[in-house]
Amino acid sequence: MTNLTAGPVPQHVAIIMDGNGRWAKARGLPRTMGHRKGVEAVRETVRTAASAGIQYLTLYAFSSENWRRPESEVTDLMGLLKMFIRRDLAELHKENVRIRIIGDKVQLRSDLLPLLLEAEETTRGNTGITLVIAFNYGSRDEITRAVQRLASDVANGLLAPHQITAEHLSATLDTQGIPDPDLVIRTSGEERLSNFLLWQSAYSELMFLPDFWPDFSRETFLKALESYACRDRRFGGVDETTRAVGSV
Ligand code: FPP
Repeated sequence: MTNLTAGPVPQHVAIIMDGNGRWAKARGLPRTMGHRKGVEAVRETVRTAASAGIQYLTLYAFSSENWRRPESEVTDLMGLLKMFIRRDLAELHKENVRIRIIGDKVQLRSDLLPLLLEAEETTRGNTGITLVIAFNYGSRDEITRAVQRLASDVANGLLAPHQITAEHLSATLDTQGIPDPDLVIRTSGEERLSNFLLWQSAYSELMFLPDFWPDFSRETFLKALESYACRDRRFGGVDETTRAVGSV
């Protein structure tokens, strides 16, 4: 691991990989080609993140709202994830990458789910970067499922309402055990979170980059990390120097 940037490296970076369709359209190509090229950017991004010392990288690969897309595109996105796991799992495992999948697994197709579970199982003991793939993921759905679980524990007398704390809720989410993202990046110039890690990103730094996802390169990523290193994170507190002046 090399520290490629000066200043603090985020422990967890989460990325909304947006702009595959527009990338393809700008080249007169079908949207599918944008997603395919997007997988190449995924590979490079995982490598860059690991070499920069990032410990968790979360990628938004398919949202719970993406089912609204044409069936052919949905099938294509499922196929790409399947192909990625089949082709890259051995390599990722060799590189000590741990894989976690977040999102509602219950609805996933029977040909995809076992592959995802296998990827998690195979890499469970790895100690390098954790690659979190958000698939069939939506924050509101994740929080709803967590609240249902807690409500059921209360109904069964296993938990008292006052025992439900923010920490307890965090530990009931799909991301349990994963630290909140320090930095959330969205590509393609759109400036919204689109139901991605809403609870977890309460204090995340947000970065909206103009590049379409297939063009997201190592250089772009490293520049974003440099810019993150200059941000002043206060988590609702005050800057030490400001506090000294203010308390005089
Ligand atoms: C958003 O672009 C992108 C997606 C909905 C899918 C992202 C998926 C991949 C990059 C490939 C599979 C992922 C892995 C982890 C192997 P868009 O289609 O909404 O673009 P647009 O806004 O320009 O139409």
